[in-house]
Amino acid sequence: MKLSPIDQSEVRRGVAALKQGLLVAFPTETVYGLGADAANAEALKRLYEVKGRPPSHPVIVHLSSIEQLDSWASAVPEPAFRLAEKFWPGPLTLILAKAPHVLLQVTGGQASVGLRIPDHPLALALIQEFGGGVAAPSANRFGRLSATCASDVAADLGCDVAVILDGGPCEVGIESTIVDFASGSPQILRPGMILPEQIESVIGKLQRKVPVNASPALESQTGQPQARHPGGLPSHYAPATPLMLVPSQFLESEVAELLHSGKRLCLLSFEKVTLSEIVWLQAVREPLAYARSLYQNLRFLDLQKADLIIVESVPEQAGWTGIADRLARAAIK
Ligand code: TXA
Ligand code: MG
Repeated sequence: MKLSPIDQSEVRRGVAALKQGLLVAFPTETVYGLGADAANAEALKRLYEVKGRPPSHPVIVHLSSIEQLDSWASAVPEPAFRLAEKFWPGPLTLILAKAPHVLLQVTGGQASVGLRIPDHPLALALIQEFGGGVAAPSANRFGRLSATCASDVAADLGCDVAVILDGGPCEVGIESTIVDFASGSPQILRPGMILPEQIESVIGKLQRKVPVNASPALESQTGQPQARHPGGLPSHYAPATPLMLVPSQFLESEVAELLHSGKRLCLLSFEKVTLSEIVWLQAVREPLAYARSLYQNLRFLDLQKADLIIVESVPEQAGWTGIADRLARAAIK
C-alpha cells in the first residue's frame, strides 16, 4: 500500500529513532506495539524499563517478510511455515527455536523466540525500512490494558517514547493468537481472533488447547514458568477499576444487589439492565466487532471513577475464545 507523504516522513523518523536505540510506538492490526531494535541490548533494556516488564518475560520480534524467518529461527517446522504462509501478515505469533544470534534479552532467557509479521501498512513500512527485527510488546504499562489507538499510547507512555506512529484505530483490537512450536507438539499459548479451528484447518488437530479462564493451568501444561508468559498471568490486560464478569442470567440481580449495597457501577452488556442509572456501554453480539472495541470500551469505563466495572459474560462459542480469555484475565479473582 502506498503511504501518504506525511506517513512516509513519520516512518523515516521512526526508523531513525530505532537506529539510535530509541523506542517507537507503532500501529498493528491487533494493538499498538512499543518497538525497539531487537538486536540492540541497550534499547531492549530501555524497552523493559519503560514497559515495566520483568526481564524474564519475552517479547515478540516483528518482521516484514517471511524470508526473514530463517534468520530469526534456527528451525522452522513445516506446519509452522504453512501457518506463516496462510496467516502472515496477520494476527498470529509463532514461537520457534531461536537462531543463535537472537539476544536473550528478547527471549527472556529462553531458547525460543516469538515471531510475527503484522498486517498494517505503517508497521510493515517501519520494519522493512529499518531492515532488522523490531522487538515489541503491546504499548501499555505491564499488566494494564493494551492500547488500540495512538492517543491511548500517548496517554500511557507519552514522554518515554521517541516517536508514536499514528495509524488510526486497530482493526482486530486484541493481541495475536500465539502458537508454540518450540516445546513439542504445537499448542495455542494465547487465544486470539485467529481461531483454533482455523489453525487446525492448516496443520491438523492440535494436541491441547489452553482452556479459557485457565491461566493457572498454563504453567503445568507448558512446563514453563508461568511468569514467562505475561498473557498467562492471572491478572493481566486489566483496567485500574476492579472488573467483575457476570453471566447473563445473573446480571439484573447482581447489579441490583451491588447498587443496593452502595457501589458505584458502570456496565458493558448486551442488553440494558432495567432500573439502573449507571454508565452503560452496549456490547455488540458479533465477536469481530466486540474485539475491535473491547479495550476502548474498558478504557472508557475505567475513566468513570466507578467502584466496579461489570461486564456481561460473552457467549461460550467459537469466535469468542480470545475475547473470553482477555475478559477473564482482566477480572478480579
Ligand atoms: O498482537 C500482538 O501480539 C501484540 C502486537 C504489538 O504485536 N504484541 C503483544 O506483545 O501482545 P506482548 O509482549 O504484550 O505479549 C506477547 C506474549 C507474551 O505473553 C509473551 O510472554 C509471549 O508473547 N512470548 C513472546 N515470546 C515468547 C517465547 N519465546 N515463548 C513463549 N511466549 C512468548
Ligand atoms: Mg501485552
